[in-house]
Amino acid sequence: MVQYDTHEHDVLVIGAGGAGLRAAIEASAHGAKVGLICKSLLGKAHTVMAEGGVAAAMANVDERDNWRVHFADTMRGGQYVNNWRMAELHAKEAPDRVRELEAWGAVFDRTRDGRILQRNFGGHRYPRLAHVGDRTGLEMIRTLQDRGIHQGIDVFMEFTVIGLIKDGARVSGAFGYDRERGLFHLFRAKAVVIATGGIGRAYKITSNSWEYTGDGDAMAYDVGADLMDMEFVQFHPTGMVWPLSVAGILVTEAVRGEGGILVNKEGRRFMFDDIPENYRAQTADNEEEGWRYTQGDKNARRPPELLTRDHVARCIVREIKAGRGSPHGGVFLDIAWIKKKIPNAEQHIKEKLPSMYHQFLKLADVDITKVPMEVGPTTHYMMGGIRVDGDTQMSSVPGLFAAGEAAAGLHGANRLGGNSLSDLLVFGKRAGEYAAKFAKENGPVAIDQAQVEALAQRALAPLENTSSNGESPYQIQKELQTHMQDLVGIVRREEEMQRALEVIAQLKERAKNTRVEGNRMYNAGWHTAIDLHNLLTVSEAITRAALVRKESRGAHFREDYPNKDTSLGGFNVILRKTAEGMRVSMEPLREMPAELKQIIEEQQK
Ligand code: FUM
Repeated sequence: MVQYDTHEHDVLVIGAGGAGLRAAIEASAHGAKVGLICKSLLGKAHTVMAEGGVAAAMANVDERDNWRVHFADTMRGGQYVNNWRMAELHAKEAPDRVRELEAWGAVFDRTRDGRILQRNFGGHRYPRLAHVGDRTGLEMIRTLQDRGIHQGIDVFMEFTVIGLIKDGARVSGAFGYDRERGLFHLFRAKAVVIATGGIGRAYKITSNSWEYTGDGDAMAYDVGADLMDMEFVQFHPTGMVWPLSVAGILVTEAVRGEGGILVNKEGRRFMFDDIPENYRAQTADNEEEGWRYTQGDKNARRPPELLTRDHVARCIVREIKAGRGSPHGGVFLDIAWIKKKIPNAEQHIKEKLPSMYHQFLKLADVDITKVPMEVGPTTHYMMGGIRVDGDTQMSSVPGLFAAGEAAAGLHGANRLGGNSLSDLLVFGKRAGEYAAKFAKENGPVAIDQAQVEALAQRALAPLENTSSNGESPYQIQKELQTHMQDLVGIVRREEEMQRALEVIAQLKERAKNTRVEGNRMYNAGWHTAIDLHNLLTVSEAITRAALVRKESRGAHFREDYPNKDTSLGGFNVILRKTAEGMRVSMEPLREMPAELKQIIEEQQK
């Protein structure tokens, strides 16, 4: 029998980024005994990669803003396959969540009259992103962490969950190990919140760090929860492309929000070439007007660099493919040009974008106050994930909740920048609250020892494999990332994705024969082998979902189906585990209430 320590909680939160912390705080405030598991150290989370701001219609900079406009922007950005209830709650509740964070100690940049300053971002009609320079996510994590640890939450740092345990239909906890010593731990809990973030590490070029291997999506799927819309992977238009060792690191959209422009090697501002019809009325067609917009002229239209991310990323790919890219395979992002417009440009850039200034100076020896950056798309965010109820965030498995990037719905086919931070505040809070209620209203859970043994055996297999032709987990991971990048990337085609499915099937077979040397004490090879199960599961889900969505919508662009399929009136793609394997189905969208439809129609005018 496998040996392990047991921990007991009312609510177990897996993942300690913004969503997990916010859920843990709320569950604890509702009287629950809360455990919080972080894969790495507390405070190290992808939340910090949302640099430019948190979106909330506070109307501090433009009084025309309100929740209705934010709701309509989010739905349009998501190309109307969003969970409209989540989009409604998010737009209504985000301002309160930001003010609450401020009351807890977050120090936002200010307007001249002392209100929280808000900046422009792509797809948001008005300046809506409350920010702290270009370190907003970091300040949010710092604040939530501070609040959380003073609330008596049990924090388990450098722990990894291998899988969930069920008691009948209901979730009853999680089984995992501590990364330092490799010892097993069982977490018995009446409710579990998954807040493990995204899947970026399924791709070669990503802004995500090593933790983001789709753990939460895969473990929820394994116990029968539905995944939804996994084809919608966001490629942020601007990541670093050079030096190669830092390729993929995020270059915040705030650079464009502060007036940065995209140019090709011919020096042409190519974003003017391709303004989509549905954004034409709001998008500037000349440099002067775009600049005035970024300087707060309420009568000006937004520059084309602030179109939605899916569109900007595709325009960049087009330039690169046409041979008009930069020397290292990207395009140029120029903020230094604003010295033509304002006298103190250098100081201004350093104040507004301090992290970007240091990042480029230290990592690429580039002074962004003087010369343009080289940038290209980077895998940044998963819009799909665990299907949840919009109000409670509970998945299709009783007692299992999800929040933040691990949950699907709010962002539809494409997320607007800054909506991730407001998402994790709004739905982290809701998940924590409803998980605590669930724990209170439902009795204790039993642990099925057979499930624990099965998870332990799966985890130990690579260490116990003595086969002379055992596979390296690093090699399998690398091959997967390369194939996902090349075959299921920004531009997709049927034959390539079919090929990806074949490769994934082969890699799944090979993963059963991974072999790692050494023991369980901090063994990075072993950790990589354990993560493979999750990476392969989410990669298969992305590819299968992308194959059935025979249209182009938001972040999912198919060269073989370049238009939207309007005949079906929109649908979600649902993935469910069955005895035969991954089952994929298309479900019609839930009918939107008339008053929300009306808001969208009004805002389209
Ligand atoms: O560009 C950024 O600062 C990223 C923001 C986000 O993903 O929300």
